[in-house]
Amino acid sequence: MLNKLTVFSAIQPTGNLTIGNYIGALRQWKNIQNKYFCIFSIADLHSLTIYQKPNILNKNILDTLAIFLACGINPSKNIIFIQSHVPQHTQLSWILNYFTYFGELKRMIQFKEKILLLNNNKINIGLFNYPVLMAADILLYQANKIPVGKDQIQHIEMVRNIAIRFNSIYGKIFTIPEKIISSNGSCIMSLLNPLKKMSKSDLNSNNIISLFDSNDIIVKKINNAVTDSNIPPNITYDKIHKPGISNLLSILSNITNNSIQNLEIEFKGKIYSDLKKSVIEHLCIFLNKFRKKYYNYRENKKLLDNIIINGSNQAQKKAKVMLNKVNNIIGLY
Ligand code: TYM
Repeated sequence: MLNKLTVFSAIQPTGNLTIGNYIGALRQWKNIQNKYFCIFSIADLHSLTIYQKPNILNKNILDTLAIFLACGINPSKNIIFIQSHVPQHTQLSWILNYFTYFGELKRMIQFKEKILLLNNNKINIGLFNYPVLMAADILLYQANKIPVGKDQIQHIEMVRNIAIRFNSIYGKIFTIPEKIISSNGSCIMSLLNPLKKMSKSDLNSNNIISLFDSNDIIVKKINNAVTDSNIPPNITYDKIHKPGISNLLSILSNITNNSIQNLEIEFKGKIYSDLKKSVIEHLCIFLNKFRKKYYNYRENKKLLDNIIINGSNQAQKKAKVMLNKVNNIIGLY
């Protein structure tokens, strides 16, 4: 454990996780957990940027933990914890605010996209300085590698800038993190508009495959997924000319652990409905297995509570050391 590089990543417990969250994040986490020393968090404080019904949030936090386990994240190999259980995150984030510029935060694409949906007077400050809390999450653990989907790249760049700025004043305190992005699953696209990211907050549920969609729903959604009317209708990976087909190939490749090149060979001479049939078949197999494991874990409240307590203790130990170091170096008494 000592000479392994540290990985940190997190997911908001906003319910309804999609196959995009699995492919872009959880699948990567599972695949790297033997190589790195990994710390995975349920980012409950981040989720508060949008009003969450208290009883639903409470339930979603345990649901998310059971999802981690059902996706193969091993709590005895990794630290798994709830962000709000480690108060050092918010403490460090307050300090990091002083090393973050207003203009930088204003340029964050996710912030710009989200405020478009809100009334000008109702843009809360948490939504604005959300990436500073991400910086605290990552920098508290001296994380070297951050596995995320493409939508988080700008935030990780921002975290690096904050750390570099801090280090340039106080010396080499923070490790400068690097992103890990999966080669063909870093941005799973919406089914009906493959130029747009698949997002769990999408108001039209036909755009997403939820980890909890039944077989019937999967059949309906994949059959309705947008393809293209290119002649000849080859099944090839080409994000510019065939975004819908490329998206289906990406999904299939990631859930079957088969390369895009192999799939292109397998589907040579076949038609789009053959590809859709295969995506449906493998998604149903994959999600049925996932859900079986999920419900087993979700029913075991004692196990989940133990993981939470254990994870918080381990995370706190590390976070305390780092926060003390930062407090000392900046001159707090
Ligand atoms: P969140 O909860 O929005 O998303 C969790 C992870 O899923 C990835 N993702 C996708 N990947 C591929 N295709 C998609 N369509 C897709 N949609 C989502 C996201 O990139 C992310 O990796 N701010 C973060 C949570 C967070 C965090 C952190 C992440 C808090 N602190 C520190 C890394 C490090 C978020 O809201 O992710």
